[in-house]
Amino acid sequence: MDLEATPHGLPGRLRTATARAAAFACALSLTGCSGVQSALDPAGGDALRIYWLTVIMTVGGILIFLLVTGLLLYAIFAPPERRAWLGSRKTIVYGGLAFPIVVLSCLLPYGLIVMRDTDVPVAGALPVEVVGEQYWWRVKYPAEQERAEFSTANELVVPVGRPVTVSVTAADVIHSFWIPNFGGKIDMIPGRINRLTFTAERPGIYRGVCAEFCGDQHARMAFDVVALEPAAFETWRAGQARPAQDPAIPFLARGRELFRAGGCGSCHVVRGTEANGQFGPDLTHVGSRRTIGAGQFPNNVGTLAGWIANTQHIKPGVRMPSYGSFTGEDLRALGGYLESLR
Ligand code: CUA
Repeated sequence: MDLEATPHGLPGRLRTATARAAAFACALSLTGCSGVQSALDPAGGDALRIYWLTVIMTVGGILIFLLVTGLLLYAIFAPPERRAWLGSRKTIVYGGLAFPIVVLSCLLPYGLIVMRDTDVPVAGALPVEVVGEQYWWRVKYPAEQERAEFSTANELVVPVGRPVTVSVTAADVIHSFWIPNFGGKIDMIPGRINRLTFTAERPGIYRGVCAEFCGDQHARMAFDVVALEPAAFETWRAGQARPAQDPAIPFLARGRELFRAGGCGSCHVVRGTEANGQFGPDLTHVGSRRTIGAGQFPNNVGTLAGWIANTQHIKPGVRMPSYGSFTGEDLRALGGYLESLR
């Protein structure tokens, strides 16, 4: 139906605009519900409890608001003889006193129980330590039984079905660790260790973010969360614990030589080589990560080379300087070497 063709042009257009706005809001709300970084698409653990708390509070709040608004309109517009009961003692005692007392007495314990249940250490959980840095994430998997410890960065890989206890702290300023699909936020405070336990219930790739303003590049401080089946997780873990592999071809060997000569090893560690800097991210298996720059770019030779040459232009304020003096050929070799560290 062509609304524009109605005899009254303006209402027609208005209606079209309203319909479009409603469709847009609808589409927006639907797209906002699912995804790799959405608290409305819980993928396990505490996120589901928090989700239901949100749903109950929101829907309950809306229903009560509608009820009160309805009563208010009724009190204003209904004929006096029909709205007399609104001012009766009974209405006030039941509606104004008993109802809020009962509702709030239920909601408060419910909220407190959710809070308690989302803060429980679980025996047998996989321990992971995450340190917030300006503006990236240092991730350490401590030794467990015969499995060796190792560090990585900007990527949290977890097994599906096993609880994970993340111990968080910060190296410089306060950050906040948040994986919306798995649970609530937790502050990362220098000198203090906070813990968060969650269980990933379905495999997939999710996204975590820093949820506390921490400086210039706060908005570009994200990380990937990869939930793997237990066997795939063990394979990944064994691979990460190994030292870096040697370059397979002369071109990559040249990249490693440039990495050494450029002094990259004074900030970055590549286990198995002389590079042992502790200041920046561990690069031993940087090629196996999905993204670089704390979740900013897909990981490939091009983005690695661009990052090295132009760090301060891409993410001004990070601790790594731009290495603009490398030639294109050098950057290809360097990027190629880093990408080969899988
Ligand atoms: Cu780190 Cu915001």
